[in-house]
Amino acid sequence: MSHDASQIEARVDAILAGLTLEEKLGQMSQYPRLAEDDRERIRRGEVGSSIFASSQWAGKDMPSAAKAEFANAFQREAVERSRAGIPVLFARDVIHGHRTVFPIPLGQAATWSPERVEQGAAVAAREAAAEGIKWVFTPMLDIARDPRWGRIAEGFGEDPWLAAALAAAAVRGYQGDDPAAPDRVLACAKHYVGYGFAEGGRDYDRTQISAQDLEDICLPPFHAAVRAGVATIMSGFHNLNGTPLSSHAHLLTEVLRHRWGFRGPVVSDWNAVAELMAHGVAANKAEAAQLALRAGVDMEMVSDCYRASLAEAVRAGRLPESYVNQATRRILRAKVQAGLFETPYTDPARATQVTLTPAHRALARQVAGESLVLLKNSDGLLPLGDRFKHVVVLGELAGARDALFGTWTLDGQGADVTPIADAIRAAAPAGVRVTAVTAYPDKMVAYAHQADAVVLVVGEEPTRSGEASSIAEIVLPPGQRELIEAVALNDVPVILVVVAGRPLALARETRLVQALVYAWHPGVEGGHAVADLLFGRIEPQGRLPVSFPRVIGQVPVYYNHPPSGRPARARGYSSAYMDVAVGPLFPFGYGLAYTTFAYDELTVSGPVLRGDGAIEVAARITNTGTRPGVETAQLYVRDRVASVSRPVRELKGFQKVALQPGASERVVFRLTADDLVFAGADGALCREAGAYDVWIAPDSASGLKGEFTLEGV
Ligand code: GLC
Repeated sequence: MSHDASQIEARVDAILAGLTLEEKLGQMSQYPRLAEDDRERIRRGEVGSSIFASSQWAGKDMPSAAKAEFANAFQREAVERSRAGIPVLFARDVIHGHRTVFPIPLGQAATWSPERVEQGAAVAAREAAAEGIKWVFTPMLDIARDPRWGRIAEGFGEDPWLAAALAAAAVRGYQGDDPAAPDRVLACAKHYVGYGFAEGGRDYDRTQISAQDLEDICLPPFHAAVRAGVATIMSGFHNLNGTPLSSHAHLLTEVLRHRWGFRGPVVSDWNAVAELMAHGVAANKAEAAQLALRAGVDMEMVSDCYRASLAEAVRAGRLPESYVNQATRRILRAKVQAGLFETPYTDPARATQVTLTPAHRALARQVAGESLVLLKNSDGLLPLGDRFKHVVVLGELAGARDALFGTWTLDGQGADVTPIADAIRAAAPAGVRVTAVTAYPDKMVAYAHQADAVVLVVGEEPTRSGEASSIAEIVLPPGQRELIEAVALNDVPVILVVVAGRPLALARETRLVQALVYAWHPGVEGGHAVADLLFGRIEPQGRLPVSFPRVIGQVPVYYNHPPSGRPARARGYSSAYMDVAVGPLFPFGYGLAYTTFAYDELTVSGPVLRGDGAIEVAARITNTGTRPGVETAQLYVRDRVASVSRPVRELKGFQKVALQPGASERVVFRLTADDLVFAGADGALCREAGAYDVWIAPDSASGLKGEFTLEGV
């Protein structure tokens, strides 16, 4: 244990030794928000943590300095007027930015850039910490394959390798080297684990997850966060294979603590400890409290099972106090790590200085621009340049402000946003007239008739994705498909821009338009980012972090699936549908540029990968077009024969390469046997010798293919 770590332990031991049982249970209790009657509760040592939940700072237009003062006022009750003087850990759902709102995490995943995710998290931490928030409930690491599930918006998509890389980047961004720094916070990897496999895509519904999917797909992003030093973890609401996560001792203790060595606190999700009664595994609050604490939930979010029952359980000998001490120790350790004892208060003046700065806005625009995915561009319609002298911008969302923020933004303010239509008007070259119509579809169609080119902005308003926002029909909201059909009847080139929190089934719409740009919910600078892309001020470089189904009936559709004994093919007896083509509309990893790239000269450094060695897989990428571009080269493997049926492809690396027209670059990937670990039939992680296919590819459905053999494992 490092010197610092031993100092922290000594500090924690000293604090713990001085606490009463009630004060320990107070540390294990998290309240939903702060109100005047909380002052007395804080003075009594009953509040270990408080969430500045959605409704806190109602109206959100509270100035940053005032928010900081608000937090300080309640903190003084704890530090200066409670017996133990332990600071309260203030938390908030700072999910994809604070006042400077970045693209939703699914959009950030489309950048395939750990650097951008880290930078965005650092900005969010700086702005949140300045207002007294030292704990953010992010990154959300739930792998999702079902777009019906509204929370697909909050995660990093369907692949564990990409999600793991971005998880570590997010933790670095929020926590830095020292979460006690004034511009850093404690991160929280959530919702441990498997929450995204909700049956039917219905939020909170049960999950049935095989040992292989749990180990190979769901756990790796959380393990990456733990290895990156994430300070806290939040357990999920859901029932996994019959056991609710709030009482899942195997995952919360055996995997998290014994296998991975995680030492931070686990906080339940909102009311989830009490919901063990609704799950039907606890008859009352006392049983729920015992189940959750013994399984490994250290802090109870919002419900009161712990504080209502555990003191009596300890005094009656039904619960060893060691469980309470263990939980309190983890919580105190996190508070020491957050620097709360040295710096319990924040500087209101600083809050104003660091919020929504020009540099923050510039980064938000950069990340939004890199998150946009060009999915279709017939005849090189885009970039618009100045060829079209009258560009008509249509759609309600073309005039939207808050709607660009996406599903979970508590501190963004609509007035900060430049709508897409205004941004297009501002970015248009000289001589290009821009007309915007954001209301009345009949008026929109009439203006389309007069246009040289139409930019039609459609999609979802933010509350159609996110928590408790599952939808059964993943198509555009009512009326939008009809509008697209009506506009397309005017023989005018149509660029469809989709603002959404999830993949939508767009097979019909895609055929009706000449260009398609997926913007996700792009954040405070999303309007400018879309305009930058349409006029070619930036190059499209987004790549899909999730497969796009043709129709809802294909769901779940994802790339890293096992082949089946009769792999899907167009004809004959196979695992294909009779009424829809095989595979997704757009595959995982897919995205176009304004230029083109060629892949050739694949090499594998040797035919054999030894268990203790490494091989290098390389290829040359050339920009064969006339514009600069950024390509995301992806490395995939396939384990041809193993003790269990293995996926037809698995992502094992990616690199972004910026290339000028005509330029080439060799991308080199390094593979080791550790990259090829998987869960065998018994669910235990293993490595098996055998032959592998390997690709370097622009997406999960194409690329240059090579091979190697793994030996000596
Ligand atoms: C919510 C969400 C979780 C969030 C927490 C606190 O219900 O499930 O993601 O961080 O409660 O708001």
